[in-house]
Amino acid sequence: MADSDSNKITREYFDSLLLQMRHIDSKPADTGIVLFGQTFDTPIATAALSHLNNTADNGMANMARGALMAGALCFSGMGETEEIRAMCRTGAKVIKIVKPHADNSVVFAKIREAEDEGAFGTGMDIDHAFGSNGEYDNVMGLPMRSKSLEEMRSFVNSTDLPFIVKGVLSVSDALKCLEIGAAGIIVSHHHGIMSSAVPPLYILPKIREAVGDRMTVFVDCCIESGMDAFKALALGADAVCTGRAIIPPLKENGAEGVRDKLLAMTGELKAVMSRTGFGMLKDIDDSVIVKRDF
Ligand SMILES: Cc1cc2nc3c(=O)[nH]c(=O)nc-3n(C[C@H](O)[C@H](O)[C@H](O)COP(=O)(O)O)c2cc1C
Repeated sequence: MADSDSNKITREYFDSLLLQMRHIDSKPADTGIVLFGQTFDTPIATAALSHLNNTADNGMANMARGALMAGALCFSGMGETEEIRAMCRTGAKVIKIVKPHADNSVVFAKIREAEDEGAFGTGMDIDHAFGSNGEYDNVMGLPMRSKSLEEMRSFVNSTDLPFIVKGVLSVSDALKCLEIGAAGIIVSHHHGIMSSAVPPLYILPKIREAVGDRMTVFVDCCIESGMDAFKALALGADAVCTGRAIIPPLKENGAEGVRDKLLAMTGELKAVMSRTGFGMLKDIDDSVIVKRDF
């Protein structure tokens, strides 16, 4: 995945978007946001990472603790019961993303586990169904399978938790998520799970136009700074997730490292909002975005 050109293309697309400034009548901006009824200090969440216990002491729980200290939402990827338990016990609001396990009884059990451990939400990364040979994937010995609309609907209907579909990279899938009653989607190519994937920010305005305000729209992939977050919000996201950017600070400084990275990114976001004349997240639109053509 790391070698996929999709990350490079996505990075270049971010960097091709430039901003006008608007200072007259502008005031210091507010980065507060309500997501699924809960107030957060920032629209920058930690991405659905996994296996962080292999790279840092208590890596998964410390990601959650760092998010909590920064007033941020925390996503979690695949992992065992002990990991989601430790994450939820930090007090962080954790959304557990379940893999598209071939056996639906595993999916339902994982959703139930998220509920039992006190997760704030759940969901599925639908983009992990296939491997690079086009057959169903096998993730660390666990068989995966793509899901039908009716199967997806049964997952959504099996829980009262907000259900977030991760790995949406087309208007078509976004509309299907709306149809099944998903609370939200994450527009993402899973850090380059397929080469030549369209940058999430390129397809985002079309997705937003199609779903309107009937779903919460997150974006991830290559979000490393508050400026990146701003560009995603300007093109239609409600909130964003940052993944690989929090791993080095997590390794170096644990939960405090994650907290500091999220606070720094939120500070950058606040600065660019203030300088572009957007006082509140809900005010942000694409009116200051200029696509570089020189
Ligand atoms: C170490 C690592 C583990 C990940 N594990 C999962 C996972 O279990 N489930 C999932 O949906 N995404 C997983 N992802 C993908 C991230 O959630 C995210 O979509 C991707 O890294 C893009 O964001 P980024 O460019 O900010 O890292 C993982 C990513 C990394 C780097």
